[in-house]
Amino acid sequence: MVDRRNFICHASQWALAGAGLLGASRLRGQAAFSSLAAAPAAAPPLPPSGPITGPGSLRAHAAARGLLYGSAVDIGLLRNDAAYRQLLIDQCGIVVAENAMKWAAVHTAADRYDFSQADELVAFAEQHGIKVRGHNLCWHEALPGWFASTVTQQNAAHYLTDHIRTVAGRYKGRLRSWDVVNEAISPGDGKPDGLRDSAWYRLLGPGYIELAFRTARAADPHALLTYNDYGIEYDHPASFIKRAAVLALLRRLKAAGVPIDAVGVQSHLDATTSGLGPGISEFVAAASALGLKVFITELDVNDDNLAPGQPAALDAAVAGVYGEYVTAMVAKPAVTDVLTWGLSDNHTWLNSTKTHKQKYPGREERALPFDDAYQPTAAFYALLDALGSHPVPGHIS
Ligand code: G3I
Repeated sequence: MVDRRNFICHASQWALAGAGLLGASRLRGQAAFSSLAAAPAAAPPLPPSGPITGPGSLRAHAAARGLLYGSAVDIGLLRNDAAYRQLLIDQCGIVVAENAMKWAAVHTAADRYDFSQADELVAFAEQHGIKVRGHNLCWHEALPGWFASTVTQQNAAHYLTDHIRTVAGRYKGRLRSWDVVNEAISPGDGKPDGLRDSAWYRLLGPGYIELAFRTARAADPHALLTYNDYGIEYDHPASFIKRAAVLALLRRLKAAGVPIDAVGVQSHLDATTSGLGPGISEFVAAASALGLKVFITELDVNDDNLAPGQPAALDAAVAGVYGEYVTAMVAKPAVTDVLTWGLSDNHTWLNSTKTHKQKYPGREERALPFDDAYQPTAAFYALLDALGSHPVPGHIS
């Protein structure tokens, strides 16, 4: 799994890669900040009094301003942890499967699908009036074991379109949005237009992206079709290059009449990198000018690069990034959906990355709105305030 934090840390390498000066290689391994930033001394803001459910919830704060807040869902926890289920019900107006709708989970053999996990998530959401976003119909990761030995240049279009028709068709009219294509841009791979040198690229060429979107529209005309990517949030050289390539892709798709309705900004942020400048705002404005909605799709704030400090200080740094980023983003009417990539620190993917395990084995990240006891963190309150900053109550269309 690519450690997406590299993207922030290797800005210079990516910049060189973007200029074609580095080979097509994936940067993995250690987050390599040259120096660890000290967490701010200030303690996080005292939590305001009052319940955090009902009108005090993230779900209610977002809805009151025409926004949707939600989270990625771990299907195992949904099945086995009543407190986790209740937290989802209390806090989320929208959910997305962290893994249950990926190829590896649903397309279990070349000629067989297994929707048991995905159906359970959708049924849970519909039972509680929670919207659902699908993730994802076309990605270079989470491909099932049979894929590499079965899919060829000759049959790849069949497998891609059959998958999309079968999966998106199954939930036709029931999902708010789909991540149709995920992470197709990787300037460091040295391919034209900064496209990722992925299995899909090698099997079908750049046209796989248009094929995926057109197939998805035909399978579910109701879902908002989304292109989703990471590493485009900061004003670092690498982000600048990738953001430009993503925007150029969106412009090409719109110019070709490809059905696309939204762009997902994954927003895997870093607690030490407040380098959020005008770049992401300009990107949102440009996407909006193309008629696209903008979703924050996988928000979390990792604290691995903060110097080891007291939990309160780490929490304050993480909360600061939540507040700054979400306040700035939801101030733009194009930004309508805000999802964190998980609800609680004990279940974040960030605990499993090579960087984290090598640097802080045994310590949980403090990256999400709830801690490992499902208690609100400083990030929860910062997120609650930020959602309240949305200027004009809108309507989720
Ligand atoms: O389900 C199998 C289980 O049967 C097996 O025993 C176990 C041991 O190998 O693996 C389990 O599958 C794992 C899966 O998560 C479910 O836990 C995969 O190995 C593991 O690679 C997978 O990681 C997920 C990763 O995407 C790759 O699909 C993470 O949980 C998930 O948080 C992460 O999410 C991605 C987004 O989809 C796209 N954007 C980046 C984001 C973070 O990488």
